[in-house]
Amino acid sequence: MDFTGRVLAWYQRHGRHDLPWQVPDPYLRWLAEIMLQQTTVTAARPYFERFRARFPTLETLAQAPLDDVLALWSGLGYYARARNLHASARLVMDRHQGRFPQTLPELLALPGIGLSTAGAILAFAFGIPASILDANVRRVLSRYHGITDRDAKATRRLWEHARAYTPTHDVADYTQAIMDLGALVCRKAPQCSICPLVSACSFKGEEPPPARRARPERSVVMALIYQANAGLLLLRRPASGVWGGLWSLPECPTLPDLTPYLASLGFEAAPGAPGAVLRHVFTHFALSITPVPVLLTNIGTCASENRDMMWYQRCAAEPGMPAPVRRLVNQFLETT
Ligand code: ADE
Repeated sequence: MDFTGRVLAWYQRHGRHDLPWQVPDPYLRWLAEIMLQQTTVTAARPYFERFRARFPTLETLAQAPLDDVLALWSGLGYYARARNLHASARLVMDRHQGRFPQTLPELLALPGIGLSTAGAILAFAFGIPASILDANVRRVLSRYHGITDRDAKATRRLWEHARAYTPTHDVADYTQAIMDLGALVCRKAPQCSICPLVSACSFKGEEPPPARRARPERSVVMALIYQANAGLLLLRRPASGVWGGLWSLPECPTLPDLTPYLASLGFEAAPGAPGAVLRHVFTHFALSITPVPVLLTNIGTCASENRDMMWYQRCAAEPGMPAPVRRLVNQFLETT
């Protein structure tokens, strides 16, 4: 049996057949593929269920305010995905009359959809033969063909292999199968003894360890500015950047910057004692957050014309906050 046949036969017995996004709905398949871009199945699953319940159709997503989408995405990370998702939903409504496009160029024209995601959507949603090369598939094909480089030439060769193995029939099954093989068998610590490709695979277990780059460390001070009658001050982050568009705590670089920073916001209050440092790891850097309570005694004006600031109290509609910020906010409100 050839590569494709082995992978398909393995999938029938050992692959995943009951993932919540394995449904014949292009909108839900697209939503899942965007969520799964940098996120594991386990982490994405509850978010997918919540999105499906709240935005059951492309139209409902397109009509929702971006803030609602970001709020529901909160904690999943890589928030550009949520902004692109929302923008794409509106584009599909406007440009394609609400019907998900079925060609590679049209899919690639939507923000947040690259070649591999477009291939997955075509294969899963429409059964159109298209190839994928996500991180799992890349690992399978690199090992199978003994391709250890990670440069552009290696990527080109891997795409050629990926295309050569993609069948014209059963393409949705094959696509799930090759993903599952990477996720369940050809893992970072591979389980070659149960792999259907082992007899022809080049991998002999002597993979060079990936070069570990030290993550740069950054630090920031976050102020928990609180008025008993109003709540906790949140500011909306600028649209670009890792937490773009999300609600966060006011921040400054270091503790000595805090008093002048508070003054610049119009608060003449003494900062309290700094709390325990919270470390949050991103892909390319780690952030150490020092939280500092600032309890306001003067009852200033709470209503604001500024759409990028709010006084937050525990309420039904949660604003979209980055996960570590939400932790600090919840901890603070529980103990205040
Ligand atoms: N990773 C990316 N897409 C996936 C899918 N459809 N199922 C499981 N894992 C995935």
